[in-house]
Amino acid sequence: MTKVLIATDKPFAPVAVNGIREIVEAQGYELVLLEKYTSQDELIAAVADVDAMIIRSDKATKEVIEAAKNLKVIVRAGAGYDNIDLAACTAHNVVAMNTPGQNSNAVAELAFGMMVYMARNFFNGKSGSELKGKKIGIHAYGNVGQNVGRIARGFGMEVYAFDPFMTDEQIKNAGAIPLHSAEEMYKMCQYISLHIPATEQTKKSINYDLLKDMPKGAVLVNTARKEVIDEEGLAKLMEERADFHYITDIAPDCDCFSKFEGRFFATPKKMGAQTEEANVNAGLAAAHQIVNFIEKGDEKFRVNK
Ligand code: 3PG
Repeated sequence: MTKVLIATDKPFAPVAVNGIREIVEAQGYELVLLEKYTSQDELIAAVADVDAMIIRSDKATKEVIEAAKNLKVIVRAGAGYDNIDLAACTAHNVVAMNTPGQNSNAVAELAFGMMVYMARNFFNGKSGSELKGKKIGIHAYGNVGQNVGRIARGFGMEVYAFDPFMTDEQIKNAGAIPLHSAEEMYKMCQYISLHIPATEQTKKSINYDLLKDMPKGAVLVNTARKEVIDEEGLAKLMEERADFHYITDIAPDCDCFSKFEGRFFATPKKMGAQTEEANVNAGLAAAHQIVNFIEKGDEKFRVNK
């Protein structure tokens, strides 16, 4: 019997697990669940006899892929797939997929939750500031970035975007003013919202030199990946500039930010995509993609070539 594993250190909402179960069992497949596991060994043991698996930010390393002898397809229920060893998947004839767009509104809403929380001094009662009229620069204007743009327009912000993979026309049609370099955008916008993936090119690319010329009261909002930040460079800048703020959904590796009281905030656990709606959207999409691949060979959303 075809066996599908949901391996989620950070579990989906029960409504999403039930929905995935319905899709999988309607095909006559078996669903197995590994949630909140505490070691990579548990994951390695759980994959031993599965044909397909759904993960979130869980690390699908070479060891995991090699241990999954029957694995044919792995779906990252979400956007970023930097947690999957794609070369190992390709080497073992495993198709890797993501579910683009399915959790993007949830991430965008959290970005604004954090922006308002910071702008209102963590709700401590002191006079804060408003988002209306402020310039926001959206770094990468894909699914999450465009949702950030839509919500920013609702707040009355001036919305700019830089995305080297989109034309000016595409950015304009999606409601933002196109800019042609990150440098230009960071110089112009008090708020910057990051939506770039973590790749060899982007790791540590948000660095001191790029951030140093942001306008007074600068706010860097990270709902993307911690790896894209040059943490030492950012901490140095925050030492030098008492007006610089950093709010993030991905706790930094460096413990050098907690001293910036009132200017730094990190969620306790990455929670941008942690809504019932996003769990259902991404989880059910992943289940459908697995069924479509196994039954029809459909490789739409494949990310390893
Ligand atoms: C994504 O890449 O889809 C987001 O970062 C969400 O990640 P999560 O599923 O671990 O919450």
